[in-house]
Amino acid sequence: LQALADRVRPGFTIGAAVALGPLASDADYAREFFGDFGGITPENAMKPQFLSPQRDVYTFEEADAILDRAESRGMAVHGHTIAFTEAMPQWMQELPTGSGEERRASADALLDYVTTVVTHFKGRLASLDVVNEPFDVDQGTSLQENIWYRTFGPGYPAIVSRAVHDADPDVRQFINENGADVPGDRQDALLELARDTNARGGHIYGVGLQSHVYDLRTDAISTEDLTDTLHLFEQAGLHVRISENDVTDDRGTDAQAQQYAAVLATCLRSRTCVSYTTWGVDDRYDWWIDDDGGLQQGHDFLFDEGHPTPAHAAMARALRSS
Ligand code: G3I
Repeated sequence: LQALADRVRPGFTIGAAVALGPLASDADYAREFFGDFGGITPENAMKPQFLSPQRDVYTFEEADAILDRAESRGMAVHGHTIAFTEAMPQWMQELPTGSGEERRASADALLDYVTTVVTHFKGRLASLDVVNEPFDVDQGTSLQENIWYRTFGPGYPAIVSRAVHDADPDVRQFINENGADVPGDRQDALLELARDTNARGGHIYGVGLQSHVYDLRTDAISTEDLTDTLHLFEQAGLHVRISENDVTDDRGTDAQAQQYAAVLATCLRSRTCVSYTTWGVDDRYDWWIDDDGGLQQGHDFLFDEGHPTPAHAAMARALRSS
């Protein structure tokens, strides 16, 4: 897919989210991933809970091992993520914010985390989610009141963004959110947050539209809606990454294939849409697999047990006809 993209839109990246386990141990998965994609997002390895399980303790090994593999093949790396309510270690969640003095100490600890992590990866990341899923779950439009919010207030994304910029001015910064890929209140809130963050001295280059399609009957993303969406962000001078697209359906349906192809083709047509990433590689390692090893949902990805799915073929066709 990346080779086809290079012909129709040089500089455009087609990536996937990956985990080190299968990348290091499963030759089919590695072949699918390295053979097809030009960009990489570590699925979990750069989340705060994994990078700093205890205060002042950093475990960069897994993320570094993923980056080594990506860099040796010249792939663009997207970092995921700095401030993310759902993926913080216990120590971070429990930082005290009762008194002014406590808040100042907690602010120092949080900013120290940002500086340490971004400095460690400096020069290796093309882009980075500085804030992931800022809004209340279930289509909320208010900022989640996590430790970043309680410590710095509603302007926290700008503070994180400035700290990231100080440590690595070249990394392209994104705010990444789900449910904002179609017009509506959530999308308006994301646009406003990106603008507000930059008005406060932040360095947001664009937004990540996750584009998870869990149910084609209710969540399908139409070409028209996505075109309007891209136009809206373009007008505001912001770039867009399709950051986590996956389409859940029964095995290999036409509807699934068409949805994948439509999102990619629409993104390709817009100069403001700078890259496309799918949130997994092979259904064998579906992120919906539960603790008992059972699939909670249908089939999501571009490969299934080592074979390209109809969605993969539809995306290739979309690229050839772009
Ligand atoms: O690695 C630990 C393991 O040591 C431990 O024994 C086990 C016990 O539950 O947990 C393992 O960590 C799990 C991790 O995936 C790695 O497998 C976490 O519990 C589990 O919560 C985590 O799920 C990830 C989820 O984000 C939560 O952060 C999924 O793999 C990942 O695909 C998913 O990705 C998110 C994006 O970051 C943001 N947007 C939505 C997307 C899908 O939910």
